[in-house]
Amino acid sequence: MYAAVVRSFDRPPRYEEFAAPEPTGRQVLVDVLAAGLHPRVRSGANGTHYTSDGSLPLIPGVDGVGRLPDGRRAYFVADDDGPGTMAEQTLLDPRRAVPLPDDADPVVIAAAMNPAMSSWVALRRRISFQPGQSVLVLGATGNAGQMAVQIARHLGAAGIVAAGRDQQRLELLTGLGATRTVSLAGDPAEAADRLGKAAADVDVVIDYTWGAVTERAIPALLTQRAERSAALDWIQIGSMAGPDITLPSFVLRAANLRIMGSGQGSLTAAGIVAELPSLIDQFTAGTLTAAALPVPLAEVERAWTAPIETGRRIVFTPSASA
Ligand SMILES: NC(=O)c1ccc[n+]([C@@H]2O[C@H](COP(=O)([O-])OP(=O)(O)OC[C@H]3O[C@@H](n4cnc5c(N)ncnc54)[C@H](OP(=O)(O)O)[C@@H]3O)[C@@H](O)[C@H]2O)c1
Repeated sequence: MYAAVVRSFDRPPRYEEFAAPEPTGRQVLVDVLAAGLHPRVRSGANGTHYTSDGSLPLIPGVDGVGRLPDGRRAYFVADDDGPGTMAEQTLLDPRRAVPLPDDADPVVIAAAMNPAMSSWVALRRRISFQPGQSVLVLGATGNAGQMAVQIARHLGAAGIVAAGRDQQRLELLTGLGATRTVSLAGDPAEAADRLGKAAADVDVVIDYTWGAVTERAIPALLTQRAERSAALDWIQIGSMAGPDITLPSFVLRAANLRIMGSGQGSLTAAGIVAELPSLIDQFTAGTLTAAALPVPLAEVERAWTAPIETGRRIVFTPSASA
């Protein structure tokens, strides 16, 4: 078969022939119809993800849509220690797969599920989000952020503050459900002040930035909060602005701040998989939308290093029948 193959962590994958994997146990060999190029895929392929054990060569790709031997299609999440999904064929574990309805577009599903799942499971499993609550999405201009805005609206958020750097994308978020937008561009202290003024009284923060953005945002929000003892659930999901923050101890004493993460590990794989069918339903019904850019897998090397089109996810289509 042909696959995207990483042979060095400092070079993009190349399209080349590779031995098809052999299923063991419950695994099934599937034809891959679509696989998204998510940030998590890039960090796995350049060896910087925390699960990376340095082994090469590897086939990247954490999820995708596959066609089973009986013709059915399924969205699936690849096993952590198995081959990735950016190949004509890969292994599917039925415990990490859900069937796709006939009218589901595999490219849209492959683009959408990873970014959408992040806020869907966070709001439904990490906290008990209630209609009428308000949300700040930090890093709302990315694929996951724009999904979080739509999902917060779908789950009944009364107010949705969308914060990001890209002004054009920020403006588009109003059409997706944001009730207010805040620019994170320019002077960091001024951006934090804008955030504090716009979002001090939200109930939930969905945070894709962390790093310097969050470090300034936490005190900016908490010190301007009308009711400090009102709970603020800060859900850490991504770290686009840096892996670490320094947190002054007073913010934990002076307000009712509850910081938690959401992702694989803070949720069980079974818990995440249980949420997938209802999320897929939203895409087939058109309640949620995602922008996808399908690219033949043969073009992986070029597409990997091409400038990233924010808000539109590259989806490789390895199998000709996609
Ligand atoms: N835990 C989970 O379950 C889970 C699931 C999916 C994704 N994630 C994580 O969530 C994050 C976002 O994923 P994505 O799919 O949305 O990625 P994406 O589509 O590539 O978007 C990334 C966004 O990050 C913003 N950004 C980058 N550097 C920034 C900085 N220094 N300050 C402020 N904003 C910055 C950019 O905003 P501008 O365009 O406005 O500059 C961009 O829109 C990633 O870290 C990803 O790994 C986690």
